[in-house]
Amino acid sequence: MKTKSIAELTQGVWLVDQKVKEFPEEFSLIGQGRSAAVFKLEGARTLAVKVFYPAYKELAHKEADIYSKLENHVYYPELIEVGEGYLVLEYLNGITFYDCLVNGVPITPSMVAMVDEALNYARECGLNPSDTHLKNIILTKDHKIKVIDVVRFTQSEECPHWSDLKKAYYSYYLKRYFPKRFAPLFIELIIRLYRKRLLPI
Ligand SMILES: Nc1ncnc2c1ncn2[C@@H]1O[C@H](COP(=O)(O)OP(=O)(O)OP(=O)(O)O)[C@@H](O)[C@H]1O
Ligand SMILES: [Mg+2]
Repeated sequence: MKTKSIAELTQGVWLVDQKVKEFPEEFSLIGQGRSAAVFKLEGARTLAVKVFYPAYKELAHKEADIYSKLENHVYYPELIEVGEGYLVLEYLNGITFYDCLVNGVPITPSMVAMVDEALNYARECGLNPSDTHLKNIILTKDHKIKVIDVVRFTQSEECPHWSDLKKAYYSYYLKRYFPKRFAPLFIELIIRLYRKRLLPI
């Protein structure tokens, strides 16, 4: 039997609003955000297929153009393919900074410095790094940092997310008695308060 192309597989993904209703058995769901669902596809090379929700389909080509500008730099996942409403990226075997907080995996100053380097590199490429939050930074199994979800890197407004995260990191997280592990519900509450500008950051 002929194996299906990735384009064909994405046809079998059924997304309604921001919910995943159905997907082909070759895929496993590994993440979801505000604009897309991301699936793992095992093969000669393990891939991450980012399928945008119907209302955000046009972002696939936009995000692919931004990845092209970043030229497969080590701090970003490699872009492998782009199609109607989907992107194929290098699969990153690791956990997000959000999961580091949930699992008590320490976030070190050198990891923070690597994110800074990644964002400075994007600036050198003429981009404006934006929306770099806890779920958009991955610590890989081989201790590298990768920044994902670059679709907002061409916006003109300044995004304070990463500089605010760094402030919180140095003012609270690094303090010796500050906890290093948090319940997901607690982190979600902090994110909500932050978005409503109710935190002293
Ligand atoms: N290349 C990858 N390898 C492994 N996991 C990934 C990869 N890309 C995305 N993910 C997982 O899928 C999640 C959602 O992906 P992504 O951030 O690209 O979606 P989004 O809808 O654009 O998110 P946002 O809500 O930040 O706009 C990520 O937080 C991460 O857990
Ligand atoms: Mg994201």
